[in-house]
Amino acid sequence: MSLEDLKNRIKEAADIVEVASRYTTLKKAGRYYRGLCPFHQEKTPSFYVDPDKKLYHCFGCGAGGDVIKLVMEMEGVGFMEALRTLARQYGIPFEWRRTGETSSSDVLFRITEDAMKLYQGELWKGGRGLSYLKKRGISQETARELLLGYAPAGWDFLVQKLGNKYPLTDLERAGLIIRKEGGGYYDRFRDRVIFPILTEYGRVVGFGARAVSPQEQAKYINSPETPIYRKGRILYGLNWSKPHIRRKEGQVVLVEGYMDFLSLYSRGIKNVVASLGTSLTEGQASLLSRFATEVFLNYDADEAGMRAAARAVPILFSAGLKVRVVKLKDAKDPDEFVEKFGPSSYIYKLEEAEKGVIFLFNYYSGKGKEVGVKIALEAIGNIPDPIARRYEVAELSHISGIEEEILVSMLEGSQGPERTASIPSLTPMEEEALALLAESPRRFLSLLSEDERRVIASTRLSYLLEVAEALSRGEELPQGEVKNHLSRIAFEGRKPSMEAGQIVSNLVKYSIGLALKALQRRIKEAERVGDTEKLIELLREKQKLIKMRG
Ligand code: UTP
Ligand code: MN
Repeated sequence: MSLEDLKNRIKEAADIVEVASRYTTLKKAGRYYRGLCPFHQEKTPSFYVDPDKKLYHCFGCGAGGDVIKLVMEMEGVGFMEALRTLARQYGIPFEWRRTGETSSSDVLFRITEDAMKLYQGELWKGGRGLSYLKKRGISQETARELLLGYAPAGWDFLVQKLGNKYPLTDLERAGLIIRKEGGGYYDRFRDRVIFPILTEYGRVVGFGARAVSPQEQAKYINSPETPIYRKGRILYGLNWSKPHIRRKEGQVVLVEGYMDFLSLYSRGIKNVVASLGTSLTEGQASLLSRFATEVFLNYDADEAGMRAAARAVPILFSAGLKVRVVKLKDAKDPDEFVEKFGPSSYIYKLEEAEKGVIFLFNYYSGKGKEVGVKIALEAIGNIPDPIARRYEVAELSHISGIEEEILVSMLEGSQGPERTASIPSLTPMEEEALALLAESPRRFLSLLSEDERRVIASTRLSYLLEVAEALSRGEELPQGEVKNHLSRIAFEGRKPSMEAGQIVSNLVKYSIGLALKALQRRIKEAERVGDTEKLIELLREKQKLIKMRG
């Protein structure tokens, strides 16, 4: 049995109503079951389970999927762990055979795995990589546990080692080698210590690479985005730290860099992850929220780090996480701090870390107390749980000296208490297009000419193309409105109500209309400033669009 077959068998056998009933109380409502949504706080039930289609969907927050997804989300576990749980529960032997790996991602996983082993081999030969680690005080034990490696100097280590095992184009797709202008390839990582980046399930998807030589211009080079490495959805180190986060009742330290992670982790502060760079994404926050409840944010101590922290707090709030911001003195980052002062001083810094709301208030109050209050309140408005919101309001009241009732009414005035419970609606045309997309993204794309795609891409409907492309490559969509709508469409079993050709042609006509409107504005502007050249170009474009509209 293949994994796909096993998955289907488990879905078939599992009773989604029974499983969902573990998380909320369901009552029969027509052919559905209905209850309070376990994913967000609500007073009237909008969580539906369809026992026939074996799907769930919340019309409040947009959560939805099949029974496996339900277990993943509710238990905070990965796909395989959810399968295992369900298999055990429904008495299905958890066995499958790897079939011929056909999906285009599989080869990329094998490549990154092979590359990681080759880099490890190079590190343990001794030499520049190992002495660099020694110089930075990284123990061999840590280096082994974190699977560190070394990419030798020279241009074609990987090209040589893997070039006859895999097509060079696949090595390029994995982000490991780069095509030369005049033909041929060279290695991306050279003379660098390698930090493998793993998914939370422990599969290597990319690498960070630290220059060993001080002459090197780029301190770090990282794998590019690839079909298997989605930077917005990975946290460095989570695969190692997740049991420790659980053990700490959901407390996690969030740092910037590889070295920050390494330093803390190797000194016993193991409930840590790194966002790799400073702009935390919603995807990363939502990933973290599957394992953590409270984040100790500890970016670099400079102004850029503070600004990044101020941006990260509302994102973490939106994911339902509590936040505290760690402030370090006499060290530029956590790595330097523990190096200088040791882990116990660091733990002390964690204990005295400021509440997220207070940090925001103080940070923005430089521009006036009203600004601080306003921004802190906005962030509080992102918190899904109304009770947690009230606690944060109390904090803000305490620090700002503004009465709680006033803050509460400001908060309600700005967004209303059930703000998170509404999904913005789509136009009927977008709804049709999404229904078609959900059914057959390839068909959708094949019906569009190059020119038509370009027009759509220039409008607010460009997201339809992105979604179609992602789906046709079999990729998971990022969390968000579109994903929620697709989940609802699947739940409702909605099929396109028109011919595919008709839908696409309506969409194109509408997009042309939007593009023409935008163009008309630019034409007016060109007329106003008397830019004749621009005007001619724009008028040509207009003609082209009109012709396309037919
Ligand atoms: P830092 O510049 O703070 O590096 O970048 P660091 O963690 O202190 O590293 P060491 O101690 O000098 O080795 C923090 C993070 O930003 C990303 C990396 O993820 C890094 O860990 N970064 C930084 C890059 O991707 N490229 C760079 O050139 C620099
Ligand atoms: Mn740093």
